[in-house]
Amino acid sequence: MNLPNKVEIIEVGPRDGIQNESTFISTENKIELINALNKTGIKRMEATSFVHPKYVPQMKDAKEVLEGIDRDPSIQYMALIPNEKGCDRAIESGIKALSLVVGASDSFNLKNVKMTREQSIQSFETVIKKAKEQDIFIRYNIATSFWCPFEGKVDSDLVLDLVEKAENLGVDEIVLCDTIGRANPAQVFDLFEKVMSLQTTAMITAHFHDTYGMALSNVVAALQTGVTRFDASIGGLGGCPFAPGAAGNSSTEDIVFMLHEMGIETGIDLKQLLACVEMVKPLTNRNLTGHLHKV
Ligand code: COA
Ligand code: ZN
Repeated sequence: MNLPNKVEIIEVGPRDGIQNESTFISTENKIELINALNKTGIKRMEATSFVHPKYVPQMKDAKEVLEGIDRDPSIQYMALIPNEKGCDRAIESGIKALSLVVGASDSFNLKNVKMTREQSIQSFETVIKKAKEQDIFIRYNIATSFWCPFEGKVDSDLVLDLVEKAENLGVDEIVLCDTIGRANPAQVFDLFEKVMSLQTTAMITAHFHDTYGMALSNVVAALQTGVTRFDASIGGLGGCPFAPGAAGNSSTEDIVFMLHEMGIETGIDLKQLLACVEMVKPLTNRNLTGHLHKV
């Protein structure tokens, strides 16, 4: 099997995970969770998002969360933004890494951010220019890279075109997201093999949801193509309020456990991670989907 020695896990629970919870999680609880995640060995984290509070009320306290957390200088905290206004709000909060999002599928992008795909890309050109002037790291998420909840299977050529456009804009990281968790390992292998062969300067990351229970298999499929970065969400929290049917992300503890069992280093302390899962349990009305915390 073609496997790396080391893999980087990027924690997106405080953003992708929490954004989908219907009951408001207090600012204090969000801060406590991020501070606990700080101690796990995770080095990069999506901490919040600067979106419209009317559409995603759970993220209305983005500024307060970023002000309240203990910012560990060895950890990169990122904030998701949908547009220029989000960029300005994030920069005002002193964030040094932005996570942009555009849907490969036009229908999803319209539902998610009320812009066509082309309008999003255009607005991000300004955002990227502004951010680069301030030495801000740019992560570029391509949502619905595999399947769209409205249009079905997404054409891989379209995604490759978006990857090339993002690379030409000079982004630092490109994330291919299976937003609705519908991709299978063969599709994942096929797309990532093509993307990896582009040999982009930007880092390439995979982001899976576990709707059909294929997230871990998809991680293994992506590993085979040389991908060494994966998003994950503590406790498997997550989903997208604008992608009907999407379940949670692949759970951080399950991915880390699997990688360690395969002899792959992550730098993450599983015991500390499981302590974070225990913190997450009372914050959600749902049963956590991950496996490890039940063992
Ligand atoms: N944060 C806060 N307010 C914002 C904003 C942002 N990022 N972007 C726009 N606004 C405000 C504008 O200032 C304007 O305010 P006003 O009415 O007081 O003048 C108002 O929202 C409408 O602006 P507009 O650009 O027309 O926004 P919209 O209604 O078309 O909504 C988004 C566009 C992107 C802001 C909205 O769809 C959104 O927040 N989506 C969230 C997507 C998301 O989080 N998805 C899950 C993660 S992928
Ligand atoms: Zn997601």
